[in-house]
Amino acid sequence: MVTRVCAMTVNYPMLPKVLVTARLAGEVIDALREAYDLEAHLDDHPIGRERLLDSIADKEGLIPIITDTIDRDLLDRAPKLRVVANFGVGYNNIDVDGATERGILVTNTPDVLTDATADLTFALILALARRVVELDALTRRGDFKTWAPMLNLSREVSGKNLGIVGMGRIGRAVARRAMGFGMHVLYCDPCRLDEALEKTLNAEQVGLEELIRKADFVSLHVPLTEETRHLISSGALQLMKKESYLINVSRGPVVDESALVAALKAGTIAGAGLDVYEKEPSLAPGLTDLANVVLLPHVGSATVETRTKMARLAFENLRAALAGEVPPNLVNPEVLPKRRR
Ligand code: DGY
Repeated sequence: MVTRVCAMTVNYPMLPKVLVTARLAGEVIDALREAYDLEAHLDDHPIGRERLLDSIADKEGLIPIITDTIDRDLLDRAPKLRVVANFGVGYNNIDVDGATERGILVTNTPDVLTDATADLTFALILALARRVVELDALTRRGDFKTWAPMLNLSREVSGKNLGIVGMGRIGRAVARRAMGFGMHVLYCDPCRLDEALEKTLNAEQVGLEELIRKADFVSLHVPLTEETRHLISSGALQLMKKESYLINVSRGPVVDESALVAALKAGTIAGAGLDVYEKEPSLAPGLTDLANVVLLPHVGSATVETRTKMARLAFENLRAALAGEVPPNLVNPEVLPKRRR
């Protein structure tokens, strides 16, 4: 008996090739694997420039993280790239104009990290004013010897002036938290809140100089742009009250970090709470020697809940872009008429 084998060729549609540059929530990696031809650098260490440049050549979609530099050089090597779905609300790591010129959509992950970042801002405010980290260390090393009326004093948060530089989503969420502490909010932003909201938040719009002069806590919530780079310069630090604190959970280069170290050493201001640094992950010389700082490793959005939501949102942005839809968090809508197909 002769068995005839019939060879049939089935043409499956090619899945779009997608690159993810870091370890993200497992459920999202699984979903990406299912939907795309996925290359994923599932690691907590940076993918590295060389691998990024090598891998991008045939990709239609990219989910980078905020430490990956997506510049013109990389975009030039990505002739098929249609979307850069940044994992992060800040997108100063991406040359957005360069992407727009090439018809590439750029998206970010706003909203889902607002509460976590505002919570961390308040953690820094409280930790600084009440010397939480310093006094924890004192207690651990056995220096809690006695209770005395004038020992281990710190500063009150309730009722103080909170200066918020940048009254976007996160700035407003910080102001909402300040209501619980009966604080007076001074805010600096090109856009004024409506009157009813100002009243609710006990907030007053002022210029940057007035904010810096009057605030007991100056908290930074602006994106990094050429206008905001070194917004807090040595001159600005000189204007702050001697007993005031600077909090930065936005982007490191918004503060001149060397000038800040000098101001902290000189007692120009009382202290600083930093989650971000000018040359991350390096810190300005002298910063770690200071007792009047609380230093965190860029963890504003680093809760399990928020990082999962960020991954889901980056995925949704990527999915929508590759399906020819308008992604929910498109940062360069002007690209739409000439987007790559
Ligand atoms: C962002 O999303 O820009 C944050 O800095 C990440 O924590």
